[in-house]
Amino acid sequence: MNATDPKALPQELIAAARAAARNAHAPYSRFAVGAALLMQDGSVITGANFENASYGLSLCAETVAIATASAAGRLREIVAVGVIGGAMDADGAPTGTTPVSPCGRCRQVINEAAQMGGRDLPVHCGAAQGDAVRTYRLSELLPDAFGPADLGIS
Ligand code: THU
Repeated sequence: MNATDPKALPQELIAAARAAARNAHAPYSRFAVGAALLMQDGSVITGANFENASYGLSLCAETVAIATASAAGRLREIVAVGVIGGAMDADGAPTGTTPVSPCGRCRQVINEAAQMGGRDLPVHCGAAQGDAVRTYRLSELLPDAFGPADLGIS
């Protein structure tokens, strides 16, 4: 993937998010979500939702992906985000043609990467199936965000 123009790459990121969603651990909601992060060097880091029998402990796909990037020392290298999700079929594959956008908590988590990397990240919201993609900047999804600068950290 070419990282120079993140807006040109939504379909590749959506494809990576779809593949990641196949590894969702979502036996409770049976709603599989996949997230894919395009990195500065063109590589992709993915995540899937990871639910827990204690429901409130569940982690969203976007949060898993960003924590994975951070654990690899690459939080500042993220240049674009892709996400898909949908109700699982009998084989565990996500279904549906309606784009999914990040939940409020994930928007705040994405903001941590955006602020640390100094980028207003594009967020490509896709569906499990079909070509529909809605692209936003994080600042549209989370205007006037609370972030590291509020704590005097850059
Ligand atoms: N979910 C995500 O992974 N990301 C979101 O942005 C929204 C919701 C997950 C959480 C839960 O495992 C399932 O989708 C149903 O809410």
